[in-house]
Amino acid sequence: TENDEVLFDPFAPGFTDDPYPQYRQLREAGPVYQHPLGFWLLTQHAEVSDLLRSGLSVEDRNLGPSPMRDLREQAGIDVDPRAGGLSMLDRDPPDHTRLRSLVSKVFTPRSIAALEPEVTALVDEALDRIAEAGSVDLVEELAFPLPFAVISRMLGMPPVDHVRLRELTAQLVRSLEPVNDPATLAAIAAADAELSAVIADVIAWKRDNEADDLLTALIAAEHDGDVLSDEELVAQVVLLYVAGHETTVNLIAGGVLALLREPDQLALLRERPDLAGAATEELLRYDSPVQLSRRITLEPHTILGHVIPPGSFVIASLASANRDERFWGPDADQVRIDRPDARRHVSFGGGPHHCLGAALARLEARVAFGRLVERFDTLALDGEVEWNGRINLRGPGRLPVSVTA
Ligand code: HEM
Repeated sequence: TENDEVLFDPFAPGFTDDPYPQYRQLREAGPVYQHPLGFWLLTQHAEVSDLLRSGLSVEDRNLGPSPMRDLREQAGIDVDPRAGGLSMLDRDPPDHTRLRSLVSKVFTPRSIAALEPEVTALVDEALDRIAEAGSVDLVEELAFPLPFAVISRMLGMPPVDHVRLRELTAQLVRSLEPVNDPATLAAIAAADAELSAVIADVIAWKRDNEADDLLTALIAAEHDGDVLSDEELVAQVVLLYVAGHETTVNLIAGGVLALLREPDQLALLRERPDLAGAATEELLRYDSPVQLSRRITLEPHTILGHVIPPGSFVIASLASANRDERFWGPDADQVRIDRPDARRHVSFGGGPHHCLGAALARLEARVAFGRLVERFDTLALDGEVEWNGRINLRGPGRLPVSVTA
């Protein structure tokens, strides 16, 4: 923090294609970096893990006077514009504890494990279509539709306008990106309002059409304890729905790309399909599907002698922690699907907000990676990869591949 050089510039050309050189420079500069806009950034594994477990706030109303706060005010937004203002992701205890335990009751490891046959069938259907075409965009044919179908079925969504919903969720996840103009913030708030209205209608419909699904269970949970408001119910469903399909897409597409770029690792997975679970952990580590997490200090927070004042926005770079050579050793930048401690990545966050969907994401990715190599003798890049242009929920936007069975 002693020098004025701007080391973190996520709007620099090329950053969203490959942010890792910047993160490496930041790690070399030290564990704590203060940006000229006033926010703080942590890039090393030890400090990132500590921050996630620290119990600091996630409620934006605790943000002190800062350029980030000014931006929100210029957009005419005086509360957090995320989908999420009311979702557990943006709440501190006791609300966080209440909301998370309600959702955990219905989103259990057992209910997720029971999905494996269905996930396998969905993957195999997608692979049939890919085999027939021979050459496809893997994002369009597998990485996006798989998690989308799984979360829609789990929730028990009625047939809805998928194209419009996909546009809305794409808008909404921009709230998780660094934003530097008020117009974008206003667009996000509009998408949030529209998506919440759609989900509120879905919930109203579900009240008359109960079934064996998550939405029905969440509605029942609302009735049982009388501890969840209607708005809160909508916000948790929006969170599950969005988290269910804007994150795992990056894991599947980014993971396949990493394997295609490291043919010896692809060959190893082919030889040893039993490594699909371990490969999933390593690919989560190698290219974090969610690159950043954030907290807000309520009191002066000291990290290795740096005092971060109250009301500060502190960003933890999960992506950088996952490549920290201090923690992983000199091969941190290499893919090694049999890396013994890969599970110690921070891609699902940590502490009280640790990802509630981790088991589901792991299941979908493990089945997808495993079935892909079992099904196809060759799997090769077949054109230019395009990144989705995001800083946080970063992944390939287009992944052209060709296959032969
Ligand atoms: C929270 C990552 C998939 C539901 C989180 C957090 C991360 C994360 C990093 C913590 C954010 C923070 O600490 O600020 C991922 C990744 C995924 C994934 C990398 C896929 C590869 C899913 C899925 C679902 C889900 C499939 C559910 C359908 C949630 C929920 C939270 C959360 C509900 C909020 C937990 C809380 O605030 O207590 N996720 N996620 N995630 N995730 Fe995931």
